[in-house]
Amino acid sequence: MGHLDGKVAIVTGAGRGIGRGEALLLAAEGARVVVNDLGTTAEGGGTDVSVAQAVVDEIEAAGGKAVANGDDVASFDGARHLIDTAVEAFGGLDILVNNAGFLRDAMSFNMDEEAFDAVIRVHLKGHFAPAKFAAAHWRARAKAGEAVYGRIINTTSEAGLWGTVGQSNYASAKGGIVSMTLTLARELERLGVTVNAVAPRARTRMTEAVLGGLVASEGAFDDWHPDNVAPAVGWLASPAAAGISGQVFVVTGGNVHWVAGFSEAGSLRGAQRWTVEGLIQHQDHLFAGRPTGIPDFGIV
Ligand SMILES: NC(=O)c1ccc[n+]([C@@H]2O[C@H](COP(=O)([O-])OP(=O)(O)OC[C@H]3O[C@@H](n4cnc5c(N)ncnc54)[C@H](O)[C@@H]3O)[C@@H](O)[C@H]2O)c1
Repeated sequence: MGHLDGKVAIVTGAGRGIGRGEALLLAAEGARVVVNDLGTTAEGGGTDVSVAQAVVDEIEAAGGKAVANGDDVASFDGARHLIDTAVEAFGGLDILVNNAGFLRDAMSFNMDEEAFDAVIRVHLKGHFAPAKFAAAHWRARAKAGEAVYGRIINTTSEAGLWGTVGQSNYASAKGGIVSMTLTLARELERLGVTVNAVAPRARTRMTEAVLGGLVASEGAFDDWHPDNVAPAVGWLASPAAAGISGQVFVVTGGNVHWVAGFSEAGSLRGAQRWTVEGLIQHQDHLFAGRPTGIPDFGIV
């Protein structure tokens, strides 16, 4: 018995890295999986359908059920076809894991327009487009009187939560994915669909330059293994997570951190419009002695 027996899942960008681990785990928990991957280079160039098929072969060799899909998740036509693939192959869709993407890092003053547009497109639109067609699928089923089981698990990044130097395109897209997660969670609640996001930290080709040297010694737990992320996604996809929506989790090694978003940090409340001089006079009251420089990065 798996926690996802009878469910149908899509994992985007599942031919490699974190998505591959997620597809394998969802299948091991009983889901039938559409393994999507365009098969791009680390910078988003080219295509290679064999990348998705290799993960399908692994799932089938382990006794699971999967089909490959090579659509570009950031195009509406591709995303529509991706959802149709799940319906045609397995009769419906229950779980969408948005994960695909790539990087084109540069300092803001050096970033070219193409690098900015490509990264915003693949992450932000590449999350929205599959979510849109999955939501339409679930809405149609609900309207037809069917009970809907719906889970969307998005992939943000600590870059999007706290900002990272050299990644103004990527951090903006990943921050937007958090906002999109909250919006989709509110929109789809009435259909019984939950929407959450994970911010992983793992050694893949995307993080090779920073984490490539961090390999566990023989027999030790590998804190940086990309497959460490998958159990949290399996949990959020499961029936046990029905009451969890609009939440964000940083997942790395053996740690799952629940992170909370914006909250009121201080206020100046007045009965009339402030003047600049008035705000200058009251700024110490607003901040109440707390630091006002660039916020600390991440979880310590
Ligand atoms: N590795 C980390 O530490 C880390 C940290 C934070 C966030 N993330 C996020 O996790 C996700 C997975 O990253 P990864 O580290 O496994 O990278 P990866 O490069 O190993 O895998 C990403 C996959 O997405 C595919 N892809 C790219 N564009 C696509 C498109 N338009 N349509 C379909 N597939 C496409 C690629 O072919 C690739 O196989 C990404 O969203 C990434 O931003 C990773």
